[in-house]
Amino acid sequence: MHFEYAPGATPIDPDEALGLIPVHITTQADLNAWEEMNIVEGATWIKRQKIIQGLDEGLIRELHRRMFNQTWLWAGTFRKSAKSIGIDWTQIAVALRNLLDNTAYQIEHQTISNDEIAVRFHHQLVLIHAFPNGNGRHARLMADALIMSLGGERFSWGGNMSLATSGVVRQNYLSDLRAADNGNLEPLMQFARR
Ligand SMILES: Nc1ncnc2c1ncn2[C@@H]1O[C@H](COP(=O)(O)OP(=O)(O)OP(=O)(O)O)[C@@H](O)[C@H]1O
Ligand SMILES: [Mg+2]
Repeated sequence: MHFEYAPGATPIDPDEALGLIPVHITTQADLNAWEEMNIVEGATWIKRQKIIQGLDEGLIRELHRRMFNQTWLWAGTFRKSAKSIGIDWTQIAVALRNLLDNTAYQIEHQTISNDEIAVRFHHQLVLIHAFPNGNGRHARLMADALIMSLGGERFSWGGNMSLATSGVVRQNYLSDLRAADNGNLEPLMQFARR
């Protein structure tokens, strides 16, 4: 299997690559298509969940598992390797706990808008980078589920064009994430509603 990476995507390390379930897949295009089918199942599942009451580590992991369970043996399990994005892997559970607590607080006290709660959640979740791969797609689906359970409309993420591949929409997304890394959430909030 030869992996090709879009800009800003996390490379899969050799150990993780061994976790590929479908043996017939040899190209990145085949893998993308296979993953997409699998992800639909996760997306269908998360829509039926009560996000606000059940927002915990179990739900975060279960969504990832359902998005990738026919693709990767490590679906739904936290990474045990260093990546160019993301905190030290030993800190993932604690950082996630913190994020979930903060988000629950924001929902309860309504100190910021629902859009800001969900986009902030998305950014912090990809920044933690809990899984070996699929963090972007998982965190976008998670943010969509969160905003809808708060009574908002699903995000468009720059028009939902091919965010997975390289291209201008992806470049905008990545630069807006970097702005958020530097404390400015506004561009990413606008991107999510474009
Ligand atoms: N500077 C950054 N700050 C925060 N998050 C970032 C940054 N650069 C990339 N990311 C996030 O990391 C994701 C890539 O991680 P990963 O490869 O695990 O996700 P993916 O779902 O496989 O790919 P993608 O969603 O990018 O197609 C990007 O989609 C983006 O959400
Ligand atoms: Mg990836």
